[in-house]
Amino acid sequence: MTDARHFLDIDDLTPEELRTVLSIAREERATERPSETPGPLERRTLGMLFEKPSTRTRVSFEAGMTNLGGHAVFLGPDDTQLGRGEPLKDTSRALSRYVDAVMARVFDHEDIAELAAYATVPVINGLTDLAHPCQTLADLLTIQDTYGDFRNVTAAWVGDGNNVARSFAVGSAMVGMDLTVATPPAYGVGSDVLDRAAEYEGSVSTTADPVAAVTDADAVYTDVWVSMGQEDERAEKLGAFDGYQLDEDLLSHAPAASVMHCLPAHRGEEITDDVVESSRSVVWQQAENRMHAQNGLLLFLLDAES
Ligand code: CP
Ligand code: NVA
Repeated sequence: MTDARHFLDIDDLTPEELRTVLSIAREERATERPSETPGPLERRTLGMLFEKPSTRTRVSFEAGMTNLGGHAVFLGPDDTQLGRGEPLKDTSRALSRYVDAVMARVFDHEDIAELAAYATVPVINGLTDLAHPCQTLADLLTIQDTYGDFRNVTAAWVGDGNNVARSFAVGSAMVGMDLTVATPPAYGVGSDVLDRAAEYEGSVSTTADPVAAVTDADAVYTDVWVSMGQEDERAEKLGAFDGYQLDEDLLSHAPAASVMHCLPAHRGEEITDDVVESSRSVVWQQAENRMHAQNGLLLFLLDAES
């Protein structure tokens, strides 16, 4: 309906644009701006719609906008007329008249697609049931920080083929990494993701064997087994993921691997406390990089490089 540039999943960027966003992120991270110098997003506002809880996404976007000289408005589930039934398409058109971009965390991916269809400003996906592309930007920035580039990096995903896994798989292929995804067969990333990943330079392969996936990997990534909105499936999922925990035993097959988790972690379920706290864990770098990566994205989408 409009030609605003949206970021609903990682492959809304081309591989070249993805590298550009990461490069702007690194430049902005290294920029020390004197306090009297206006930031590149001065007088710009980001609307942030949340249907579900968040620590990192909310605070990294809000602090990022402050650092860039702009402003962010937090709109929780009880803060807008959406809670009283105002349609998303109306909310989207009204918000577009006030703010320069909208970031939204919603349950149903179709809802963010509807928001974007009616928005005249960029819409950024802050997590849906199907995708978490802002997390992927931060993950790729973290891998780039650790290994310099992507092309000789092999990564493994172990656990649920969820929103985080799906965007990470496509993003990995876009930058030329080789990723093996180990999930129980019923909880894979989905053939749509494998088809999209196959368009790019890297490779994504699947297995049900966590040991095969992690053996000699450079980076091993996991996330919770029960995502927000799946609480009713908890008992069934915990049974299905028996054997997929990221623990020292499994990691003994990847002695040089860094360990990734988007957080929040459920220690004792998908990952052990020891592993989160170990020297190979890069989870805090990932969390910090959320802000830097998103700053790069905001500057890219709003065409306001520093
Ligand atoms: N990783 C992530 O998106 O964390 P939050 O749920 O805290 O935003
Ligand atoms: N897969 C998790 C990620 C949270 C950041 C969820 O959707 O709850």
